[in-house]
Amino acid sequence: MKGKSVIKIGGSLLFTKDNELDKEKIQKFCQIFKNVNRSGTHVIVCGGGRIARVYIDAVRSFHGNEALCDTFGIDLSRINSKLLITSFQDFSYPLVPKTIEELSLALLFGKIVVMGGLQPGQSTTSVALEVAEFIQADELVILTDVEGIYDKDPKKFGDAKLIKTLNYAGLQEIVLNSSGDNQAAAGEYRIFDAVSLQILKRSKIKISVMSGKDLKEFEKYWKGEKDITCTVISD
Ligand code: UTP
Repeated sequence: MKGKSVIKIGGSLLFTKDNELDKEKIQKFCQIFKNVNRSGTHVIVCGGGRIARVYIDAVRSFHGNEALCDTFGIDLSRINSKLLITSFQDFSYPLVPKTIEELSLALLFGKIVVMGGLQPGQSTTSVALEVAEFIQADELVILTDVEGIYDKDPKKFGDAKLIKTLNYAGLQEIVLNSSGDNQAAAGEYRIFDAVSLQILKRSKIKISVMSGKDLKEFEKYWKGEKDITCTVISD
């Protein structure tokens, strides 16, 4: 299988329920790429997770501004990326690109590239969309802690239904309806933030949102299997 893909892994997926680093899972994630060695161009974008939020909360309590909080989130997402690179060993490019220009250089080596945040004011989902747009990816996979996009918050409503397919207008409606006032605070950009919606509208990338909790769906997806529990977002 060839192609260009971007995979976003939420930082929360790298930690156990007790907030310990989930070393086994990190290794399992990297192993999926090693086992199914797809040729092509692949970029993994890693989030900050709880550890980023712990730092952001501390910075905010010291009266740090939101942009400063964001820089901590970016740094932590890069540390998480460095950890994935270490687990990948020679299988990935050894450095975390900090800009799109550094990414284009990294891609010349032909290995998987792992990166975190880029600039304040957005989430790593926006980074994943920017990267997908830049490399003209065929697909963007977002691994999160629920099975996809629901008609309402599945963590609050037991009767929330998983949506199998969505177009961009439908996604925008759901995101706008579910956004609270804290949507634009550091550490609080939810699955799709405003920046990511804007990039999506212009770049028309196909996105699959699926659970990365036990990585079973992602493993099936990466092997090219068809029957995946997820939400597919396309035009
Ligand atoms: P994310 O909120 O994207 O991390 O980035 P995450 O772990 O993937 O989130 P979950 O687990 O899916 O919920 C962490 C924080 O880093 C800053 C933001 O404050 C963001 O909330 N950040 C990240 C930026 O400011 N710019 C970026 O380009 C990326």
